[in-house]
Amino acid sequence: MSNTTPILRLEEVTKSFGPVTVIDGVSIDVRPGQVQALLGENGAGKSTLIKMMAGVYQPDSGRIIVDGKEVHLPNSKASEALGIATIHQELNLVPTMTVAENIMLGRTPSRFGLVNFSQLRRQAQAALRLIGLDVDLDTPVAELGIARQQLVEIAKALSMNARMLILDEPTAALTGKEVDQLFSVIADLRAKGVGMVFISHHLDELARIADTISVLRDGAFVAEVPAHTPEDELVRLMVGRDIADQYPHVSHQPGAPLLEVRELSSQGAFKDVSFTVHAGEVVGLAGLVGAGRTEVVRAIAGVDKVDSGTVIVDGQRLASGSISKAIAQGIGHVPEDRKGQGLVLDATVGENLGFATLRSTSTFGLADRRGQTSRATEVADKLRIRMASIHQPIRDLSGGNQQKAVFGRWVLAGSKVLLLDEPTRGVDVGAKVEIYNIINEVTAAGGAVLMVSSDLPEVLGMSDRVLVMSGGEVAGELPPTATQDEVMTLAVANLTSAVNTNSDSDQELSS
Ligand SMILES: Nc1ncnc2c1ncn2[C@@H]1O[C@H](COP(=O)(O)OP(=O)(O)OP(=O)(O)O)[C@@H](O)[C@H]1O
Ligand SMILES: [Mg+2]
Repeated sequence: MSNTTPILRLEEVTKSFGPVTVIDGVSIDVRPGQVQALLGENGAGKSTLIKMMAGVYQPDSGRIIVDGKEVHLPNSKASEALGIATIHQELNLVPTMTVAENIMLGRTPSRFGLVNFSQLRRQAQAALRLIGLDVDLDTPVAELGIARQQLVEIAKALSMNARMLILDEPTAALTGKEVDQLFSVIADLRAKGVGMVFISHHLDELARIADTISVLRDGAFVAEVPAHTPEDELVRLMVGRDIADQYPHVSHQPGAPLLEVRELSSQGAFKDVSFTVHAGEVVGLAGLVGAGRTEVVRAIAGVDKVDSGTVIVDGQRLASGSISKAIAQGIGHVPEDRKGQGLVLDATVGENLGFATLRSTSTFGLADRRGQTSRATEVADKLRIRMASIHQPIRDLSGGNQQKAVFGRWVLAGSKVLLLDEPTRGVDVGAKVEIYNIINEVTAAGGAVLMVSSDLPEVLGMSDRVLVMSGGEVAGELPPTATQDEVMTLAVANLTSAVNTNSDSDQELSS
């Protein structure tokens, strides 16, 4: 297979931003009918590399070769014209436009100068069917949760009938069923000779779907290895050391109740949700996409109002629907959608890290900016946020490093109760352990943590107890010694067989 001419070859490409070289003389081949995975730590340069294939960035030196001939890709249109479709890590959907409009964006079929709406809908529907996504074509994308937004983005790329497809962390927001569906589409495309580039921090996925894995470290090429390479070997190539314990959870004797949730209900999202998290505890919240986990967390954090029920934090009742009151009472919230709800993209890394604390100190009219910067630097170091400087706009950080910053903000704020919604989404295996260690520090200091995670090994590996939600209700509680199968059994407990194939859709309200 490797003898066939690559569809695309990057040859000795280099890319710098200002004084910082982020890709340094890397060569990579994308071959027909093969899945080339890219593996590397957060900030290693994976997204930058694929953006050069997609015409988003141009290499400073080196060559791009398509079908054996050197090409220049001045923009993404030029790349698409060569049959290369890209699913970017940060979704490129227009929130106010409908699902159909987003899928067909820039390729609107027309007849006699008029938009041919029926054809537009037909093509969009075909793309959705391919990925097994059951949503209304006329829904504005903003009304879909992040998982289904990601599926729309995938459908959009598939509808281009590309001969090369680039997927930058397409599975980050997906759970098991959706990942399976995507992988069966990828297998079909592979059989049709489509060449693919696939980026993921889930090592088990690489073994399932890739043919070869190219490893990057600090912008340099390390090795190209077969997809069945053992995981510990991959980790060594990627981070340059072994990771002894993937889930370094430390259990503490639970103290007083810090977070008490009593019969919380919100029409169409969740019903009669009750549980307690004590000081020193990590409670996991597992379930399928759309089970209501995110909505419960958002309600506690004051993002959404509830219909009934109470939340008590450290003995004090919390007002419903007020983010600032929740923060004032010691709640920290790492939302699932870091770009939409977590970060101020134009602000610096330091400002984003200090966002929560600045707000509370600035009520006195003076924000302690200098102290803020030094504390922010400390947290950034601890989380090993890879950046040129704390004064850099956060927009320029890699996806995983942005995620670490959202987490770091609440550590800096010294929150008593941390609500974490997919805290390690898009975070590399080494950096995950750093986040887990900080979770341990929070509980050791008497804090309480509620963690939503679709990553079952993570939720079982890092929690003291696991609550499983299904269909908007808490279906049961499991000890961390439970198996993944036991979690899944509870996760589907309240989903009656009568409902549609896409049972998530009716419950998911997040925007
Ligand atoms: N527009 C930009 N300006 C300045 N620096 C940038 C820009 N884009 C990327 N970088 C830097 O380049 C480096 C590589 O980033 P890239 O997004 O390629 O990493 P990645 O391997 O995709 O990481 P992740 O796993 O977190 O997505 C990072 O240090 C990042 O801060
Ligand atoms: Mg990236």
